[in-house]
Amino acid sequence: MNEGDNSASKEAPANKEESAVPTRTEEEVNLCKQMMEAASAGDNATVELLLKKGADVHYRDDKAGGHLEVVQNLILSGHPWNEVDNEAKSAGEYAEENGQDDVYNFLLEEEEEIEEKKEGGEEEKEEEAVQEPREKKKKVAPNQDYLDQKLHYSEDKLLDEEDNAVMMSWEGPLMEKHAELMCTREGMHVMNVGFGLGLVDEALQKYKPASHTIVEAHPDVYARMLELGWDKRPGVKILFGRWQDVVLQMETYDGIFFDTFGEFWKDLRQFCELVPSILNPGGVYSFFNGLGGSNPFFHAVYCRIAEMEMLQMGLETTYIKVEMEEPTDKAWDGVARKYFTLNHYNLPMCRLIDDV
Ligand SMILES: C[S@@+](CC[C@H](N)C(=O)[O-])C[C@H]1O[C@@H](n2cnc3c(N)ncnc32)[C@H](O)[C@@H]1O
Repeated sequence: MNEGDNSASKEAPANKEESAVPTRTEEEVNLCKQMMEAASAGDNATVELLLKKGADVHYRDDKAGGHLEVVQNLILSGHPWNEVDNEAKSAGEYAEENGQDDVYNFLLEEEEEIEEKKEGGEEEKEEEAVQEPREKKKKVAPNQDYLDQKLHYSEDKLLDEEDNAVMMSWEGPLMEKHAELMCTREGMHVMNVGFGLGLVDEALQKYKPASHTIVEAHPDVYARMLELGWDKRPGVKILFGRWQDVVLQMETYDGIFFDTFGEFWKDLRQFCELVPSILNPGGVYSFFNGLGGSNPFFHAVYCRIAEMEMLQMGLETTYIKVEMEEPTDKAWDGVARKYFTLNHYNLPMCRLIDDV
């Protein structure tokens, strides 16, 4: 997954870029249309011929094909796996809807490979950046804009200055489920990163933890925690700061939950890398899984990538499917952007490989 593509945390929207609409001659459009006809008829030879003649692999219309050979051909010719049609649907969604398992699985595997290669490229770029002079290297937090903003709490949500939802109460049942699956007994040592509305922390408290550490970076949220008396609750320890800056104050825990805002997969991955050194044997680590949360196929791809990457870090992941009602339109009233539109939730349960 690329930084900026998707977020595991709720993500403030990126600046809109102007999308360039390619201008094509009549002849080019004809070639593209013929290619779409051939693709939906499963005529791979003609697709290949038209591609050679210059048909644009990015051309889109409302035709859905679903023939494995043709899909393979188009992807290998550079058709972006995450391109959507005029209905905002991707090839993977059509394949799933139409029960074309071969196409769906091919796309899933291919996309994982493409995304992993991109990740490799990103890391190389970062390594190069490390060689730059010190003064150029100053790291700014990816969500510094958010951390500098004034937040406002309402009855059922926490919003930033642009009305992006930092946390919403419809997530309450999911937070309860996370706590239930993390807390296998009373008296555990637990840590939550990101307080928000305090929903997961309230849920964790029900399992009477021996110690309960909460990491929170935003001054307004921290002020709210003090107002609510969280600093006086028995066993509660608040680490005020970005999790990245308070790692040395962390101990080891039986249950760890992560749910920040305005950070990306890259940040979550960094946290996952830390987990094996702060998770006690037999413990459970989980995070809010909003990966690709507005498209079912992207979500499936990102879940698989996260699972594979965490395996390399020494964490075995199981996704527990939680059926949920999509939040109503009313729930999104006053919110700038819907960050989750799936009709089920894949709750990640991660354990140390040695425990499995
Ligand atoms: C989505 S909310 C958490 C919601 C929480 N799970 C609940 O049940 O209410 C995200 C929280 O993470 C905090 N946050 C964002 N970046 C952070 C960071 N790097 N370290 C610690 N907290 C962070 C935000 O200020 C916000 O309070």
